[in-house]
Amino acid sequence: MAVIVLTSATGAPGVTTASLGLALTWPRHVLLADCDREPAQAVQAGYLRGMDHGGRGMMSLAHLHREGHPLAAELWRQTLPLVQEGDVQRRFLPGFTSPGASRLFEHVWPALGEAFEQLDAQGVDVLVDAGRITTTGLPLGLLSAADAVLVTVRTSLRSLAGARIHLPTLTDQLQALPRETSVGLLVVGPGRPYSSAEIAAQFALPVWAEVLWEPKQAGVLSDGDPEPRRFFEGSFMGRLRADAKAVSERVSRARQARELVLRGAS
Ligand SMILES: Nc1ncnc2c1ncn2[C@@H]1O[C@H](COP(=O)(O)OP(=O)(O)OP(=O)(O)O)[C@@H](O)[C@H]1O
Ligand SMILES: [Mg+2]
Repeated sequence: MAVIVLTSATGAPGVTTASLGLALTWPRHVLLADCDREPAQAVQAGYLRGMDHGGRGMMSLAHLHREGHPLAAELWRQTLPLVQEGDVQRRFLPGFTSPGASRLFEHVWPALGEAFEQLDAQGVDVLVDAGRITTTGLPLGLLSAADAVLVTVRTSLRSLAGARIHLPTLTDQLQALPRETSVGLLVVGPGRPYSSAEIAAQFALPVWAEVLWEPKQAGVLSDGDPEPRRFFEGSFMGRLRADAKAVSERVSRARQARELVLRGAS
């Protein structure tokens, strides 16, 4: 079980597209949470093609928190289905709907992080689209709940230069936390021009996932473009499915190792 935060440095390398692709192929029950502090409603307006969220999402959670409701009990009710069929539940927590709203959320992040951890204890993994790192870093309440943080980069020099600037903000934040959090890279479009191996060596970080460069297929996820035939069976989603399995296994292994250390210490 896991809480995984996905983020980026500069540009729009494909965090939302990759997070959604992972949520649609995740091997267990999963919640995709739109925690981007720059509101865009990208999943509702894109993949969900304008689905009415009925007032559910982050804004409602802020309101409930203000009224003293425990968020863990409310969280699931604030979500929408990402898919209608299948044995695996795939839900979506809609994000902020106005530009300054995330500022009102400053005191809510720790409670939301705890609610994510509790969901995880109920057998639901959480994928958090945290948007960009920004100059102030990511909300500590979110990072405290995370098992892993995946930094999304494209393979151009421009994208990598941005990551070089903003990654230290994130790593400094993680170092200040009491528990160890894994950091990995999610590479969008390996080989355009740099390879994942070259990028991993440059940043001294492991590449946890690679998303293929496929503008048409990506448009299905990012913009709700019509699905080509056998979209879910094709190489683009196939690769995401393999990534989802690998990431979830990697987090499980890290968690088991951490628990062993803790048990040994007690
Ligand atoms: N693997 C991919 N192959 C080709 N195009 C992609 C891929 N992933 C994303 N894109 C395209 O890149 C654009 C930005 O994608 P997305 O919205 O996911 O980025 P983001 O990192 O979430 O951006 P932001 O920081 O603005 O939230 C979209 O047009 C999307 O279709
Ligand atoms: Mg995004």
